[in-house]
Amino acid sequence: MNVRKLLGAALGALLLGSGAAAADTVKVGIIGPFSGPFALQGKNFQAGVEAYMALNGKTVKGNDVEVIYRDLPAANPAQARALAQELVVKDKVQYLGGVYFTPDAMAITPLLEQANTPLVIFNAATSAIMKTSPLVVRTSFTTAQTTTPLGKVVIDNGVKKVISVVSDYGPGIDAEGAFKKAFEAAGGQVVDAIRMPMNTNDFSPIMQRVKDSGAEAVFAFLPSGPTTLGFVKAFNETGLKKAGTKLFAPGDLTQESDLPALGDAAAGMLTTFHYAVSHDSPENKTFVEAASKAIGNPAELSFPSVGAFDGMHVIYKMIEATEGKQDAAKAVDAVKGLSWTSPRGPVSIDADTRHITENIYLREVTKQADGTYINKEIQTFENQKDPGLAAK
Ligand code: PHB
Repeated sequence: MNVRKLLGAALGALLLGSGAAAADTVKVGIIGPFSGPFALQGKNFQAGVEAYMALNGKTVKGNDVEVIYRDLPAANPAQARALAQELVVKDKVQYLGGVYFTPDAMAITPLLEQANTPLVIFNAATSAIMKTSPLVVRTSFTTAQTTTPLGKVVIDNGVKKVISVVSDYGPGIDAEGAFKKAFEAAGGQVVDAIRMPMNTNDFSPIMQRVKDSGAEAVFAFLPSGPTTLGFVKAFNETGLKKAGTKLFAPGDLTQESDLPALGDAAAGMLTTFHYAVSHDSPENKTFVEAASKAIGNPAELSFPSVGAFDGMHVIYKMIEATEGKQDAAKAVDAVKGLSWTSPRGPVSIDADTRHITENIYLREVTKQADGTYINKEIQTFENQKDPGLAAK
């Protein structure tokens, strides 16, 4: 190659390089479980993102939005950190989103300020995550938020003695504490509290302890996925349900994608949660149509899709406010106090905590005329902030 050709090639590479980094494409990196036992939860992230982009377009103020997905199959903080770093440094994303498990969110937030990158959490539900960085915003829920209204519900159902069973990590410990506080304030008593390792899948010793405790009901939290399905099945199969013991939980335990497999075993179960696929509103009808198309099989739709859909709404508002330029502080400031009508109902981003304020609904697993099961909303607790953050 002669000198001119060499110079030409170098210049070409430079132009190509600057073209790739042109300000008119804003990249968003989404981390979630897209393979492995929790793949359905990641699939719901993707369905929510695709539904949002199908309904709202793929450009914001002339900037093309490009989404890059990265697979994190199970809670793995070291891998979460590596993926986030790679997305920021190599892929040059301006925004991070997704994150199913709390330990992964905790591993990513310390990187945000140096990376000048906001993180919009689509799921991870431990209250304290919001304290770890000013650049994190959350569009899902916290377990303190979803379980607090349940305390009074259990009392209203004539139950005074409960045994608490939770996964032994952030959202489980938050759920245990928030439920106990609300239940005891309403006059109930938590007679025993069990914390299970996160990967427990043999629940028979737990069910034996429940039996021995003399409690009238179980309060339980586990992260939604194969674990929750296994837990509710074990509760029914060990005869606890037949013996009259009740099971109360946040909606993680009755996500819609599990209802066909649970069938009659879950019928009548009461849960509190921020989103039911059956929520009756025009916004949800539009959402469910678009998300069903994105996911392929509508029976697979459940709550992570709405966290992702609203998460994209927040990211679009951030891109709008910064006109596509990378300015994480400005982007986050722009969504403080933002309110809109989500498929789940009215929501807003709390200006102080950056966590979502939303309705929490009491739902009953109900069999419909066509033989399918839904989480039927029967009561609304309006505009709930995160009591877990307020308490800290
Ligand atoms: C979490 O790890 O924060 C988490 C995961 C799944 C849930 C709820 C919370 O259903």
